[in-house]
Amino acid sequence: MPEKILVCVAWPYANGDLHVGHLAGAYLPADIFARYHRLAGNDVLMVSGSDSHGTPITVRAEKEGITPLELFERYHARFLDTQQRIGISYDLFTHTDTENHYRVAQDIFLRLLERGYLYRQTQLQLYSETAGRFLPDRFVEGTCPHCGYTEARGDQCDNCGRLLDPLELIDPRSKIDGSVPVPRETEHFFLNLPLLQDRIAAYLAEGKDHWRPNVLAFSRNYVAAGLQGRPITRDIEWGIPVPLPGYEGKRLYVWFEAVIGYLSASIEWARNQGRPDAWKEWWYDPAAKSYYFIGKDNIPFHTIIWPAQLIGIDRLYEDDPSRHLNLPYDVPANEFMNLEGAQFSKSRGRVIELIVYLDHFDPDPLRYYVTSVMPETRDTDFSWEDFVRRNNDELLATWGNLCHRVLTFAYRHFEGQVPVPGLMDRADVGLLARIDVSFGPIGRLLSECRFRAALNEVMNLAREVNKYLEEKSPWFQIKEDRTAAGTTIYVALRAIDSLKVLFAPFLPFTSEALHRYLGYEGSLFGRPYIATFREGERIHDALCYDPAGAAGRWAPSQLPAGQALQPPQPLFRKLELAEIEAVFG
Ligand code: MF3
Ligand code: ZN
Repeated sequence: MPEKILVCVAWPYANGDLHVGHLAGAYLPADIFARYHRLAGNDVLMVSGSDSHGTPITVRAEKEGITPLELFERYHARFLDTQQRIGISYDLFTHTDTENHYRVAQDIFLRLLERGYLYRQTQLQLYSETAGRFLPDRFVEGTCPHCGYTEARGDQCDNCGRLLDPLELIDPRSKIDGSVPVPRETEHFFLNLPLLQDRIAAYLAEGKDHWRPNVLAFSRNYVAAGLQGRPITRDIEWGIPVPLPGYEGKRLYVWFEAVIGYLSASIEWARNQGRPDAWKEWWYDPAAKSYYFIGKDNIPFHTIIWPAQLIGIDRLYEDDPSRHLNLPYDVPANEFMNLEGAQFSKSRGRVIELIVYLDHFDPDPLRYYVTSVMPETRDTDFSWEDFVRRNNDELLATWGNLCHRVLTFAYRHFEGQVPVPGLMDRADVGLLARIDVSFGPIGRLLSECRFRAALNEVMNLAREVNKYLEEKSPWFQIKEDRTAAGTTIYVALRAIDSLKVLFAPFLPFTSEALHRYLGYEGSLFGRPYIATFREGERIHDALCYDPAGAAGRWAPSQLPAGQALQPPQPLFRKLELAEIEAVFG
């Protein structure tokens, strides 16, 4: 029975180009995971989109003197292009400014209200007398009451990771003009987290052995410290209106509605498929598993607040009282990736924008390198020198050259066909057996989100094939015993054919190319494409995935002798540090 796997990926704020930090933190692990599960024959639904509301957008738009709509539409379009080119295979990458998302978010708001999980409270919020308006969280900075960090944002402290209310900040100041904001009364809706505390604690208490220890410990401590009600509306103009008369000026808080995107995007995807109920297979079937790929700064929103919302909602667009929305099965949050020993920082020019990289270099080497230093359990470092070394010494020397040598040899000496093997000896059988049995354990590593370890195993297998080839030396065999050389090349081609699949989640572009050189028709994966959708008057573009023709299987090679090969091209090229420095300075 295929498993239902829901792959939820953090929604990037559409206020700047995507960079390596985004890739390492969420998109690449999610994509490797989704591709693996597709190859394994499971039913994957992978969703995300641009986070188009909230102060990260309005602050930036204000700075540029354009509307929030103009700003987010510009970056949304760039996100689609970038992610298609780096090969992130979303079933749907949409955005939060669609009619569908408005409706789902507002329906959820009303459902929580009706079920008693929201309350109204007059609240003090920071008001700027100089600007004549309430200051949203991110417009305020100050000292964290928990750890004393002096540059804490109004919504969250980047030093200790705790979520904050701007009023808790010591010495608050406005980010707009540095003035000191004053508290002023305003009425807001609050999510009643104290009412949900016990159920969140119970959710985190059981069946979490597969969670990353740091994610679990952080979340449990957070709940144990006691949850407080959180305001989920704001006095701003950009965002989703509160769907109640008398609250026209207020909007849903961006964090309340952005996480709802996982559900609304699933619903949008199903509708686009012409199967409007299909999303329920991933959201209501208790056997379906949902994975949330996020950076560590997003942990509490995904392990506490979103589960609280889901428990509060209980079910949506579903009458059967025995059905409940699924809670996150796993939240494999990544740590941070630094750049050459210091934090990525856009303002200091320390950033690797994916679009710039892709204008000069191929996607797979970056995917390979970022996976090999993925911050799965601790912060790691991106270094261009290390990138070049791994590209040249591992990807090119160990894997690319292996493929090229074997394919050109077969092409030259065996009429461009997979040779018919003679009798196999222990080395031949041993190599193929060693590779065949590795599909299980490597698949397990991938399904456990241990991507670095999985990639390492595959590269080790490539090293073994190289060793095998050196020992057999078909370039000598061919002079004396053509059948023996044919056996060696047959075995090596089968090994490469298997490794093509094992590498495919990490290196989809070069694995597809290799698939063709090996003479297969069709492709391993489906095709990502950008589509335009219309909702009444409004249209939006989204990144989609067409699974048609995907023939890749997470299984050892069955390469038939006699199959006609295609003329091979090198899969990778040697890189020089200087050419990278010419682009990235
Ligand atoms: N846009 C936010 C961020 O980049 C939230 C991402 S995850 C979401 O931190 F699902 F909540 F949107
Ligand atoms: Zn702090």
